[in-house]
Amino acid sequence: MEQYIIKGGKPLTGEVLISGAKNAALGIIAAAVMTDDIVKIDNLPDVKDIDVLLQAIEGIGAKVERINRHTVRIHGGKINSVFLDNDYLRKIRGSYYLLGALLGKYKSSAVAMPGGCNIGSRPIDQHIKGFEALGATVKIEHGMINAKAEELIGSHIYFDVVSVGATINTMLAASMADGQTILENAAKEPHVVDVANFLNSMGANIKGAGTDVIRIKGVQKLHGSEYSIIPDQIEAGTFMFAAAASKGDVLIKNVIPKHLEAISAKLLEIGAQIEEFDDAIRVKASGRLGHTHVKTLVYPGFPTDMQPQMTAILSVSQGMSIVTESIYENRFKYVDELSRMGASIKVESNTAIIDGVERLTGAIVSAPDLRAGAALVIAGLMAEGYTIIEHVEYIERGYENFENKMQDLGAAMEKIDSEDTKAVRKFKLKVS
Ligand code: EPU
Repeated sequence: MEQYIIKGGKPLTGEVLISGAKNAALGIIAAAVMTDDIVKIDNLPDVKDIDVLLQAIEGIGAKVERINRHTVRIHGGKINSVFLDNDYLRKIRGSYYLLGALLGKYKSSAVAMPGGCNIGSRPIDQHIKGFEALGATVKIEHGMINAKAEELIGSHIYFDVVSVGATINTMLAASMADGQTILENAAKEPHVVDVANFLNSMGANIKGAGTDVIRIKGVQKLHGSEYSIIPDQIEAGTFMFAAAASKGDVLIKNVIPKHLEAISAKLLEIGAQIEEFDDAIRVKASGRLGHTHVKTLVYPGFPTDMQPQMTAILSVSQGMSIVTESIYENRFKYVDELSRMGASIKVESNTAIIDGVERLTGAIVSAPDLRAGAALVIAGLMAEGYTIIEHVEYIERGYENFENKMQDLGAAMEKIDSEDTKAVRKFKLKVS
Protein backbone atom coordinates (compact mmCIF):
# COMPACT_ATOMS: atom_id res chain seq x y z
CA MET A 1 0.00 0.00 0.00
CA GLU A 2 1.32 3.43 -0.84
CA GLN A 3 1.53 6.15 1.77
CA TYR A 4 2.68 9.72 2.02
CA ILE A 5 5.26 10.65 4.60
CA ILE A 6 5.65 14.31 5.46
CA LYS A 7 7.93 16.23 7.77
CA GLY A 8 6.05 19.35 8.73
CA GLY A 9 7.24 22.86 9.39
CA LYS A 10 8.70 23.90 6.03
CA PRO A 11 7.11 26.93 4.34
CA LEU A 12 6.16 26.23 0.72
CA THR A 13 7.79 28.61 -1.75
CA GLY A 14 8.05 28.92 -5.52
CA GLU A 15 5.62 28.22 -8.36
CA VAL A 16 3.15 25.46 -9.08
CA LEU A 17 1.29 24.73 -12.31
CA ILE A 18 -2.35 23.69 -11.92
CA SER A 19 -3.68 20.83 -14.06
CA GLY A 20 -6.96 20.63 -15.97
CA ALA A 21 -10.22 20.30 -14.05
CA LYS A 22 -11.03 16.66 -13.23
CA ASN A 23 -14.76 17.20 -12.88
CA ALA A 24 -14.97 19.07 -16.20
CA ALA A 25 -12.82 16.44 -17.92
CA LEU A 26 -15.16 13.61 -16.85
CA GLY A 27 -18.13 15.32 -18.54
CA ILE A 28 -16.07 16.27 -21.58
CA ILE A 29 -14.74 12.74 -22.18
CA ALA A 30 -18.29 11.39 -22.05
CA ALA A 31 -19.45 14.14 -24.44
CA ALA A 32 -16.58 13.34 -26.81
CA VAL A 33 -18.13 9.99 -27.82
CA MET A 34 -21.34 11.73 -28.92
CA THR A 35 -19.85 12.50 -32.33
CA ASP A 36 -18.64 10.03 -34.95
CA ASP A 37 -15.82 12.47 -35.75
CA ILE A 38 -12.47 12.81 -34.02
CA VAL A 39 -12.16 15.02 -30.95
CA LYS A 40 -8.87 16.26 -29.52
CA ILE A 41 -8.85 17.23 -25.84
CA ASP A 42 -6.01 19.13 -24.24
CA ASN A 43 -5.13 20.07 -20.64
CA LEU A 44 -6.49 16.74 -19.44
CA PRO A 45 -5.48 16.02 -15.83
CA ASP A 46 -3.34 12.90 -15.46
CA VAL A 47 -5.32 11.33 -12.60
CA LYS A 48 -6.84 7.94 -11.90
CA ASP A 49 -10.54 8.83 -12.41
CA ILE A 50 -9.74 10.04 -15.93
CA ASP A 51 -7.86 6.82 -16.80
CA VAL A 52 -10.85 4.79 -15.66
CA LEU A 53 -13.27 6.73 -17.86
CA LEU A 54 -10.96 6.60 -20.89
CA GLN A 55 -10.63 2.82 -20.46
CA ALA A 56 -14.40 2.57 -20.16
CA ILE A 57 -15.04 4.28 -23.49
CA GLU A 58 -12.30 2.14 -25.09
CA GLY A 59 -14.16 -0.88 -23.76
CA ILE A 60 -17.28 0.02 -25.77
CA GLY A 61 -15.36 0.57 -29.00
CA ALA A 62 -14.15 4.18 -28.91
CA LYS A 63 -10.61 4.72 -30.15
CA VAL A 64 -8.54 6.50 -27.50
CA GLU A 65 -5.12 7.76 -28.45
CA ARG A 66 -3.02 9.30 -25.67
CA ILE A 67 -0.86 11.82 -27.53
CA ASN A 68 0.87 12.74 -24.28
CA ARG A 69 -0.04 12.84 -20.57
CA HIS A 70 -2.37 15.78 -21.07
CA THR A 71 -3.68 15.36 -24.60
CA VAL A 72 -5.96 12.69 -25.96
CA ARG A 73 -7.64 12.02 -29.28
CA ILE A 74 -11.00 10.26 -29.07
CA HIS A 75 -12.91 8.69 -31.93
CA GLY A 76 -16.40 7.57 -31.00
CA GLY A 77 -17.39 6.56 -34.54
CA LYS A 78 -17.16 2.82 -33.94
CA ILE A 79 -18.92 2.42 -30.62
CA ASN A 80 -20.37 -1.09 -30.49
CA SER A 81 -22.08 -1.22 -27.11
CA VAL A 82 -23.95 1.08 -24.72
CA PHE A 83 -23.45 -1.26 -21.74
CA LEU A 84 -20.79 -0.21 -19.24
CA ASP A 85 -19.89 -2.16 -16.16
CA ASN A 86 -16.62 -3.02 -14.47
CA ASP A 87 -15.12 -2.90 -10.98
CA TYR A 88 -13.30 0.39 -11.52
CA LEU A 89 -16.20 2.10 -13.19
CA ARG A 90 -18.41 1.32 -10.22
CA LYS A 91 -15.98 3.23 -7.99
CA ILE A 92 -16.02 6.56 -9.79
CA ARG A 93 -18.81 9.09 -9.99
CA GLY A 94 -18.18 10.58 -13.43
CA SER A 95 -19.06 7.27 -15.15
CA TYR A 96 -22.69 8.33 -15.00
CA TYR A 97 -22.07 11.00 -17.63
CA LEU A 98 -21.94 8.17 -20.15
CA LEU A 99 -25.63 7.61 -19.41
CA GLY A 100 -26.61 11.05 -20.69
CA ALA A 101 -24.08 11.03 -23.54
CA LEU A 102 -25.05 7.60 -24.94
CA LEU A 103 -28.74 8.20 -24.35
CA GLY A 104 -28.44 11.41 -26.38
CA LYS A 105 -26.56 9.73 -29.24
CA TYR A 106 -28.05 6.21 -29.35
CA LYS A 107 -31.29 6.72 -27.31
CA SER A 108 -30.15 3.88 -25.08
CA SER A 109 -27.54 3.42 -22.34
CA ALA A 110 -26.81 1.14 -19.40
CA VAL A 111 -24.18 2.12 -16.83
CA ALA A 112 -23.26 0.52 -13.51
CA MET A 113 -24.51 2.47 -10.47
CA PRO A 114 -21.72 4.97 -9.78
CA GLY A 115 -19.60 5.09 -6.66
CA GLY A 116 -17.35 8.06 -5.88
CA CYS A 117 -16.17 9.40 -2.55
CA ASN A 118 -18.09 8.22 0.46
CA ILE A 119 -19.20 11.63 1.71
CA GLY A 120 -22.88 10.98 2.31
CA SER A 121 -25.80 9.58 0.39
CA ARG A 122 -25.55 10.50 -3.25
CA PRO A 123 -28.93 9.96 -4.92
CA ILE A 124 -29.41 10.21 -8.68
CA ASP A 125 -33.12 11.02 -8.67
CA GLN A 126 -32.55 14.37 -10.41
CA HIS A 127 -30.61 12.71 -13.25
CA ILE A 128 -33.53 10.30 -13.68
CA LYS A 129 -36.00 13.18 -13.52
CA GLY A 130 -34.11 14.90 -16.33
CA PHE A 131 -33.94 11.81 -18.59
CA GLU A 132 -37.60 10.93 -17.98
CA ALA A 133 -38.69 14.47 -18.78
CA LEU A 134 -36.97 14.04 -22.16
CA GLY A 135 -39.05 10.93 -22.77
CA ALA A 136 -36.72 8.15 -21.61
CA THR A 137 -37.69 5.21 -19.45
CA VAL A 138 -35.18 4.68 -16.66
CA LYS A 139 -34.90 1.47 -14.65
CA ILE A 140 -32.42 0.43 -11.99
CA GLU A 141 -31.92 -3.33 -12.15
CA HIS A 142 -29.12 -5.64 -11.02
CA GLY A 143 -26.87 -2.72 -10.11
CA MET A 144 -27.26 -1.09 -13.53
CA ILE A 145 -29.03 2.12 -14.54
CA ASN A 146 -30.79 1.51 -17.85
CA ALA A 147 -32.12 4.43 -19.85
CA LYS A 148 -34.00 4.02 -23.13
CA ALA A 149 -36.17 6.16 -25.38
CA GLU A 150 -37.94 5.78 -28.70
CA GLU A 151 -37.07 9.42 -29.23
CA LEU A 152 -35.89 12.21 -26.96
CA ILE A 153 -38.03 15.30 -26.97
CA GLY A 154 -37.04 18.68 -25.50
CA SER A 155 -38.75 19.57 -22.25
CA HIS A 156 -38.98 22.16 -19.48
CA ILE A 157 -37.27 20.75 -16.39
CA TYR A 158 -37.12 22.30 -12.92
CA PHE A 159 -34.52 20.56 -10.74
CA ASP A 160 -35.56 20.13 -7.10
CA VAL A 161 -31.96 20.40 -5.91
CA VAL A 162 -29.01 22.14 -7.52
CA SER A 163 -26.92 19.26 -8.83
CA VAL A 164 -23.75 19.48 -10.91
CA GLY A 165 -24.15 15.88 -12.06
CA ALA A 166 -27.84 16.09 -12.99
CA THR A 167 -27.33 19.39 -14.82
CA ILE A 168 -24.44 18.02 -16.94
CA ASN A 169 -26.11 14.66 -17.58
CA THR A 170 -29.43 16.16 -18.71
CA MET A 171 -27.59 18.75 -20.80
CA LEU A 172 -25.69 15.93 -22.57
CA ALA A 173 -28.86 14.03 -23.46
CA ALA A 174 -30.87 17.16 -24.34
CA SER A 175 -28.21 18.43 -26.74
CA MET A 176 -29.27 15.67 -29.16
CA ALA A 177 -33.01 15.69 -28.37
CA ASP A 178 -35.70 17.01 -30.72
CA GLY A 179 -36.58 20.63 -29.94
CA GLN A 180 -35.82 22.92 -27.02
CA THR A 181 -35.04 21.97 -23.43
CA ILE A 182 -34.99 24.47 -20.58
CA LEU A 183 -33.18 23.50 -17.38
CA GLU A 184 -34.18 25.59 -14.38
CA ASN A 185 -32.38 25.64 -11.03
CA ALA A 186 -29.31 24.38 -12.89
CA ALA A 187 -25.85 24.18 -11.30
CA LYS A 188 -23.56 27.12 -12.16
CA GLU A 189 -20.16 25.57 -11.39
CA PRO A 190 -17.30 26.38 -13.80
CA HIS A 191 -17.16 22.75 -14.93
CA VAL A 192 -20.82 22.88 -16.01
CA VAL A 193 -19.90 25.86 -18.21
CA ASP A 194 -16.84 24.04 -19.56
CA VAL A 195 -18.86 20.98 -20.61
CA ALA A 196 -21.44 23.28 -22.27
CA ASN A 197 -18.67 25.16 -24.10
CA PHE A 198 -17.19 21.89 -25.28
CA LEU A 199 -20.58 20.64 -26.53
CA ASN A 200 -21.09 23.96 -28.34
CA SER A 201 -17.65 23.57 -29.94
CA MET A 202 -19.02 20.26 -31.34
CA GLY A 203 -22.05 22.02 -32.82
CA ALA A 204 -24.51 21.85 -29.90
CA ASN A 205 -26.73 24.84 -29.20
CA ILE A 206 -26.58 25.55 -25.45
CA LYS A 207 -27.13 29.00 -23.97
CA GLY A 208 -27.09 30.23 -20.38
CA ALA A 209 -24.60 27.78 -18.83
CA GLY A 210 -23.19 29.51 -15.75
CA THR A 211 -26.64 30.90 -14.85
CA ASP A 212 -29.44 28.91 -13.27
CA VAL A 213 -31.44 28.69 -16.51
CA ILE A 214 -29.86 26.74 -19.36
CA ARG A 215 -31.56 26.62 -22.79
CA ILE A 216 -30.65 23.84 -25.15
CA LYS A 217 -31.83 23.52 -28.76
CA GLY A 218 -31.30 19.89 -29.74
CA VAL A 219 -29.25 19.10 -32.86
CA GLN A 220 -29.25 15.90 -34.92
CA LYS A 221 -25.52 15.53 -35.17
CA LEU A 222 -22.41 16.73 -33.39
CA HIS A 223 -19.06 17.17 -35.11
CA GLY A 224 -15.36 16.90 -34.22
CA SER A 225 -13.59 19.54 -32.17
CA GLU A 226 -10.35 20.55 -30.48
CA TYR A 227 -10.75 21.75 -26.93
CA SER A 228 -8.65 22.69 -23.92
CA ILE A 229 -10.09 21.98 -20.46
CA ILE A 230 -10.23 24.76 -17.83
CA PRO A 231 -7.84 24.65 -14.86
CA ASP A 232 -8.94 22.76 -11.76
CA GLN A 233 -10.50 25.16 -9.26
CA ILE A 234 -10.15 22.71 -6.37
CA GLU A 235 -6.53 21.74 -7.05
CA ALA A 236 -5.73 25.47 -7.21
CA GLY A 237 -7.62 26.11 -3.97
CA THR A 238 -5.81 23.23 -2.27
CA PHE A 239 -2.40 24.70 -3.16
CA MET A 240 -3.59 28.16 -2.05
CA PHE A 241 -4.48 26.72 1.35
CA ALA A 242 -1.25 24.69 1.53
CA ALA A 243 0.75 27.87 0.82
CA ALA A 244 -1.02 29.83 3.57
CA ALA A 245 -1.04 26.93 6.05
CA SER A 246 2.73 26.45 5.71
CA LYS A 247 3.32 30.21 6.05
CA GLY A 248 4.81 30.17 2.60
CA ASP A 249 4.80 32.27 -0.54
CA VAL A 250 3.57 30.48 -3.66
CA LEU A 251 2.64 31.60 -7.16
CA ILE A 252 -0.15 29.32 -8.38
CA LYS A 253 -0.13 29.33 -12.18
CA ASN A 254 -2.65 28.31 -14.87
CA VAL A 255 -5.72 29.34 -12.88
CA ILE A 256 -8.84 31.43 -13.52
CA PRO A 257 -8.82 33.81 -10.51
CA LYS A 258 -12.57 34.48 -10.94
CA HIS A 259 -13.27 30.80 -10.11
CA LEU A 260 -11.26 31.16 -6.91
CA GLU A 261 -12.99 34.21 -5.43
CA ALA A 262 -14.79 32.40 -2.59
CA ILE A 263 -11.53 30.70 -1.61
CA SER A 264 -9.45 33.90 -1.86
CA ALA A 265 -12.03 35.80 0.22
CA LYS A 266 -11.75 33.32 3.09
CA LEU A 267 -7.95 33.34 2.97
CA LEU A 268 -7.93 37.15 3.10
CA GLU A 269 -10.37 37.06 6.00
CA ILE A 270 -8.05 34.85 8.08
CA GLY A 271 -5.02 37.03 7.35
CA ALA A 272 -3.28 35.62 4.28
CA GLN A 273 -2.16 37.94 1.47
CA ILE A 274 -3.45 37.40 -2.04
CA GLU A 275 -2.23 38.92 -5.26
CA GLU A 276 -4.20 38.24 -8.45
CA PHE A 277 -2.79 38.16 -11.98
CA ASP A 278 -4.51 37.30 -15.28
CA ASP A 279 -3.97 33.57 -14.99
CA ALA A 280 -2.08 33.19 -11.71
CA ILE A 281 -2.58 33.92 -8.05
CA ARG A 282 0.03 34.48 -5.35
CA VAL A 283 -0.66 33.43 -1.78
CA LYS A 284 1.55 34.52 1.07
CA ALA A 285 1.18 34.18 4.84
CA SER A 286 3.25 34.68 7.94
CA GLY A 287 2.41 34.35 11.60
CA ARG A 288 -0.65 32.64 13.00
CA LEU A 289 -3.82 32.92 10.93
CA GLY A 290 -7.17 34.02 12.32
CA HIS A 291 -10.56 32.36 12.75
CA THR A 292 -13.69 32.55 10.61
CA HIS A 293 -17.10 31.04 9.90
CA VAL A 294 -17.64 29.16 6.64
CA LYS A 295 -20.67 27.53 5.06
CA THR A 296 -20.33 25.42 1.94
CA LEU A 297 -22.69 26.41 -0.85
CA VAL A 298 -23.19 25.83 -4.55
CA TYR A 299 -21.11 28.03 -6.87
CA PRO A 300 -20.27 30.91 -6.47
CA GLY A 301 -20.38 30.05 -2.75
CA PHE A 302 -17.59 28.34 -0.84
CA PRO A 303 -17.11 24.89 -2.46
CA THR A 304 -17.79 21.71 -0.49
CA ASP A 305 -14.69 20.23 -2.13
CA MET A 306 -12.58 22.78 -0.19
CA GLN A 307 -14.31 22.18 3.16
CA PRO A 308 -11.83 19.64 4.62
CA GLN A 309 -8.83 21.78 3.59
CA MET A 310 -10.49 24.81 5.28
CA THR A 311 -11.08 22.87 8.48
CA ALA A 312 -7.44 21.71 8.50
CA ILE A 313 -6.11 25.26 8.27
CA LEU A 314 -8.56 26.54 10.90
CA SER A 315 -7.51 23.78 13.30
CA VAL A 316 -4.40 25.84 14.11
CA SER A 317 -5.85 29.30 13.61
CA GLN A 318 -6.33 31.64 16.54
CA GLY A 319 -9.78 31.44 18.14
CA MET A 320 -13.00 29.59 17.47
CA SER A 321 -14.17 28.82 13.94
CA ILE A 322 -17.33 27.23 12.63
CA VAL A 323 -17.54 25.24 9.40
CA THR A 324 -21.01 24.24 8.16
CA GLU A 325 -21.41 21.66 5.42
CA SER A 326 -24.62 22.19 3.49
CA ILE A 327 -24.11 19.95 0.43
CA TYR A 328 -23.26 16.51 1.89
CA GLU A 329 -24.34 15.07 5.23
CA ASN A 330 -21.25 13.01 5.96
CA ARG A 331 -18.23 15.03 5.00
CA PHE A 332 -16.51 15.33 8.40
CA LYS A 333 -15.13 11.79 8.66
CA TYR A 334 -11.57 13.08 8.50
CA VAL A 335 -12.02 15.08 11.73
CA ASP A 336 -11.06 12.03 13.82
CA GLU A 337 -7.78 11.92 11.91
CA LEU A 338 -7.10 15.62 12.57
CA SER A 339 -7.87 14.98 16.25
CA ARG A 340 -5.19 12.29 16.21
CA MET A 341 -2.81 15.10 15.25
CA GLY A 342 -3.94 17.24 18.17
CA ALA A 343 -6.77 19.29 16.64
CA SER A 344 -9.69 20.26 18.87
CA ILE A 345 -12.83 19.90 16.74
CA LYS A 346 -16.34 18.98 17.74
CA VAL A 347 -18.79 17.89 15.06
CA GLU A 348 -22.50 18.39 15.64
CA SER A 349 -24.59 17.15 12.70
CA ASN A 350 -23.41 19.22 9.72
CA THR A 351 -21.30 21.68 11.70
CA ALA A 352 -17.70 21.51 12.92
CA ILE A 353 -16.77 23.74 15.83
CA ILE A 354 -13.05 24.28 15.78
CA ASP A 355 -11.08 25.52 18.76
CA GLY A 356 -7.79 26.52 17.16
CA VAL A 357 -4.79 24.87 18.84
CA GLU A 358 -1.23 26.26 18.88
CA ARG A 359 0.20 23.33 16.94
CA LEU A 360 -0.54 19.94 15.40
CA THR A 361 1.81 17.02 15.88
CA GLY A 362 2.61 14.36 13.28
CA ALA A 363 0.79 11.01 13.49
CA ILE A 364 -0.25 8.04 11.36
CA VAL A 365 -3.57 8.96 9.75
CA SER A 366 -5.76 7.54 7.04
CA ALA A 367 -7.33 9.42 4.10
CA PRO A 368 -11.06 8.61 4.07
CA ASP A 369 -11.66 10.26 0.65
CA LEU A 370 -10.09 12.51 -1.97
CA ARG A 371 -10.46 16.02 -0.52
CA ALA A 372 -10.12 14.87 3.08
CA GLY A 373 -6.86 13.23 2.00
CA ALA A 374 -5.63 16.57 0.65
CA ALA A 375 -6.63 18.20 3.96
CA LEU A 376 -4.52 15.68 5.86
CA VAL A 377 -1.55 16.55 3.65
CA ILE A 378 -2.05 20.23 4.57
CA ALA A 379 -2.23 19.22 8.23
CA GLY A 380 0.98 17.21 7.81
CA LEU A 381 2.75 20.24 6.29
CA MET A 382 1.80 22.31 9.36
CA ALA A 383 2.47 19.64 12.00
CA GLU A 384 5.52 19.23 14.15
CA GLY A 385 7.38 16.04 13.24
CA TYR A 386 6.40 13.24 10.89
CA THR A 387 2.96 12.42 9.49
CA ILE A 388 2.13 9.26 7.56
CA ILE A 389 -1.01 9.35 5.44
CA GLU A 390 -2.46 6.00 4.44
CA HIS A 391 -4.73 5.36 1.44
CA VAL A 392 -3.14 7.85 -0.92
CA GLU A 393 -5.03 6.10 -3.72
CA TYR A 394 -7.97 8.34 -2.84
CA ILE A 395 -5.83 11.45 -3.28
CA GLU A 396 -4.46 10.19 -6.59
CA ARG A 397 -7.99 9.95 -7.99
CA GLY A 398 -8.05 13.72 -8.30
CA TYR A 399 -4.60 15.30 -7.76
CA GLU A 400 -1.96 14.96 -10.44
CA ASN A 401 1.57 14.29 -9.16
CA PHE A 402 0.60 15.67 -5.78
CA GLU A 403 3.78 14.72 -3.94
CA ASN A 404 6.03 15.96 -6.78
CA LYS A 405 4.27 19.32 -6.98
CA MET A 406 4.60 19.65 -3.19
CA GLN A 407 8.29 18.64 -3.32
CA ASP A 408 8.95 21.27 -6.01
CA LEU A 409 7.58 23.85 -3.55
CA GLY A 410 10.04 22.64 -0.93
CA ALA A 411 7.81 20.29 1.07
CA ALA A 412 9.55 17.41 2.81
CA MET A 413 7.09 14.86 1.45
CA GLU A 414 7.44 11.53 -0.30
CA LYS A 415 5.35 8.60 -1.45
CA ILE A 416 6.55 5.37 0.11
CA ASP A 417 5.51 1.74 0.05
CA SER A 418 4.17 0.53 3.39
CA GLU A 419 5.82 -2.88 2.71
CA ASP A 420 9.26 -1.27 2.47
CA THR A 421 10.47 -1.48 6.06
CA LYS A 422 13.40 0.88 5.44
CA ALA A 423 11.47 3.63 3.65
CA VAL A 424 10.54 5.66 6.74
CA ARG A 425 14.10 5.58 8.08
CA LYS A 426 15.52 6.56 4.68
CA PHE A 427 13.11 9.50 4.46
CA LYS A 428 13.98 10.67 7.98
CA LEU A 429 17.71 10.52 7.24
CA LYS A 430 17.18 12.48 4.04
CA VAL A 431 15.17 15.31 5.55
CA SER A 432 16.81 15.59 8.97
N1 EPU B 1 -28.41 15.31 -5.25
C1 EPU B 1 -29.67 14.79 -5.18
N2 EPU B 1 -30.17 14.11 -6.27
C2 EPU B 1 -29.45 13.96 -7.41
C3 EPU B 1 -28.16 14.50 -7.48
C4 EPU B 1 -27.66 15.19 -6.38
O1 EPU B 1 -30.34 14.91 -4.15
O2 EPU B 1 -29.97 13.36 -8.35
C5 EPU B 1 -27.85 16.04 -4.09
C6 EPU B 1 -26.62 15.35 -3.52
O3 EPU B 1 -26.97 14.37 -2.59
C7 EPU B 1 -25.88 16.50 -2.90
C8 EPU B 1 -26.22 17.67 -3.81
O4 EPU B 1 -27.38 17.29 -4.54
O5 EPU B 1 -26.41 16.76 -1.63
C9 EPU B 1 -25.14 18.07 -4.78
O6 EPU B 1 -24.72 16.96 -5.53
P1 EPU B 1 -24.16 17.10 -7.02
O7 EPU B 1 -25.03 16.29 -7.93
O8 EPU B 1 -23.92 18.53 -7.34
O9 EPU B 1 -22.78 16.37 -6.89
P2 EPU B 1 -22.12 15.36 -7.89
O10 EPU B 1 -22.42 15.74 -9.30
O11 EPU B 1 -22.40 13.96 -7.45
C10 EPU B 1 -19.96 16.77 -8.22
C11 EPU B 1 -18.50 16.51 -8.06
C12 EPU B 1 -18.15 16.43 -6.58
C13 EPU B 1 -18.58 17.72 -5.89
C14 EPU B 1 -20.05 18.01 -6.16
C15 EPU B 1 -20.53 19.35 -5.61
C16 EPU B 1 -18.03 15.18 -10.03
C17 EPU B 1 -17.64 13.87 -10.61
N3 EPU B 1 -18.17 15.25 -8.71
O12 EPU B 1 -20.61 15.65 -7.62
O13 EPU B 1 -16.75 16.30 -6.54
O14 EPU B 1 -18.39 17.60 -4.50
O15 EPU B 1 -20.30 17.99 -7.59
O16 EPU B 1 -19.81 20.40 -6.17
O17 EPU B 1 -18.15 16.16 -10.74
C18 EPU B 1 -14.66 15.71 -5.68
O18 EPU B 1 -14.17 16.10 -6.74
O19 EPU B 1 -13.98 15.46 -4.65
C19 EPU B 1 -16.12 15.57 -5.57
C20 EPU B 1 -16.70 14.88 -4.61
